[in-house]
Amino acid sequence: MDLSIRDSLAAVAEFYDQRKVGDSGPLGFRRSTDLMTLLACADRLMEEKIIVPGETAFLDLGCADGRVNLFFSYLVRLSVGIELDEWTLDEYGPLRSHLEALLERENLLPPPENIFLFHGDSTERRLHDAVARTTGLGVESFDLFYTYLVMHDAFAEMLAERARQGAIFMVYGLHKVLPQYSGFRLLRHLSPMEEILALYEKM
Ligand SMILES: C[S@@+](CC[C@H](N)C(=O)[O-])C[C@H]1O[C@@H](n2cnc3c(N)ncnc32)[C@H](O)[C@@H]1O
Repeated sequence: MDLSIRDSLAAVAEFYDQRKVGDSGPLGFRRSTDLMTLLACADRLMEEKIIVPGETAFLDLGCADGRVNLFFSYLVRLSVGIELDEWTLDEYGPLRSHLEALLERENLLPPPENIFLFHGDSTERRLHDAVARTTGLGVESFDLFYTYLVMHDAFAEMLAERARQGAIFMVYGLHKVLPQYSGFRLLRHLSPMEEILALYEKM
């Protein structure tokens, strides 16, 4: 990975990891991915061509404040997120502004303009149509899907029906017991990456 991208991603990860949600208190349903952990996975994801810089279309199902989208935006062509709770999604803008000021002060790369976040239910066809109208890509055209455990079963069912063969579904928050999803093959040689991220290929 380009050094300037790595340095910028480390700053992005540090910024959001200091602002994790739901580790304690009543917001457990919207826990945040540890972005330093994703950074530790990034080189392997690229070596394995799960991420192809400038080519991959990425979709976070349940993106909350868009932090995973912002992180992957540096590495992919298109970074799309869908979030059910509007107030959660509303945190994206202020956090991003704060982060951009910090990146500028530290002479680091700003996030690319390839992030599109949507309010709605990730399983709904109407929402997928809205994504397609804005980005030009329907669910069947995305290469890489991500979720943080909460709705993994329902999302796997939706993707089994609509994602293309060979698309990858990454599930964060797993440990030793890795679920099976109908229509997907667990990539055992890669999972769980950093003991927390499992990867599945659509058959
Ligand atoms: C555990 S958080 C993960 C946030 C972010 N992806 C991350 O990893 O830091 C899960 C999010 O999924 C959202 N969610 C749950 N069901 C959803 C659905 N059907 N469609 C879209 N978002 C959903 C919740 O509101 C919550 O913000």
